Amino acid sequence: MQVLKERKTTREFAPGKLRPQLLSNLLWAAFGINRPDGKRTAPSAMNWQEIDIYIAMAEGLFLYDAKENRLDPVLEQDIRQATGSQTFVATAPLNLIYVADLSKAGSGPETELFTAADVGFISQNVYLFCASENLATVVRGSIDRVSLSKAMKLRPNQKIILAQTVGYPKK
Ligand SMILES: Cc1cc2nc3c(=O)[nH]c(=O)nc-3n(C[C@H](O)[C@H](O)[C@H](O)COP(=O)(O)O)c2cc1C
Repeated sequence: MQVLKERKTTREFAPGKLRPQLLSNLLWAAFGINRPDGKRTAPSAMNWQEIDIYIAMAEGLFLYDAKENRLDPVLEQDIRQATGSQTFVATAPLNLIYVADLSKAGSGPETELFTAADVGFISQNVYLFCASENLATVVRGSIDRVSLSKAMKLRPNQKIILAQTVGYPKK
């Protein structure tokens, strides 16, 4: 009840980085594995588990590996600025980018709806985690997907759905 009461969007971020354990907990809350059969903290249509979480930080771009509970390096460049059209994205410590791997999803008429819904659950997990840890967050659809896909060097069957900025609130 308390985290639901405190869930909210914030668009002002202090520049401080998240401690590694806090980042690890955030990603586990977002879409970590919570059962021995490999299922996750968020539901996914037909259990596709098709959403990958990329993390753009000053140190570069990383991919969350839920099985190993680890961040895999993808790019060394700081691409935070390319993750959205709002100015705070360039300086906030963390931008999560939710990317559907269409090779793991079905090819029916509902695929687009389902991948978007799957991201919604993950994003809400992040919102609730942020409420519990007094972090600031905003989910974002306002993204130049063509240029961000290029900056991230995504494959053609990877589709950017939404992004979400996280950081400490500005005092
Ligand atoms: C699918 C989706 C896309 C959104 N895109 C943006 C965005 O691009 N930029 C932004 O500042 N907020 C974005 N928001 C946040 C909404 O503006 C925000 O949730 C709404 O104003 C309600 O505020 P609250 O989250 O504090 O309840 C988005 C929210 C959703 C669900």
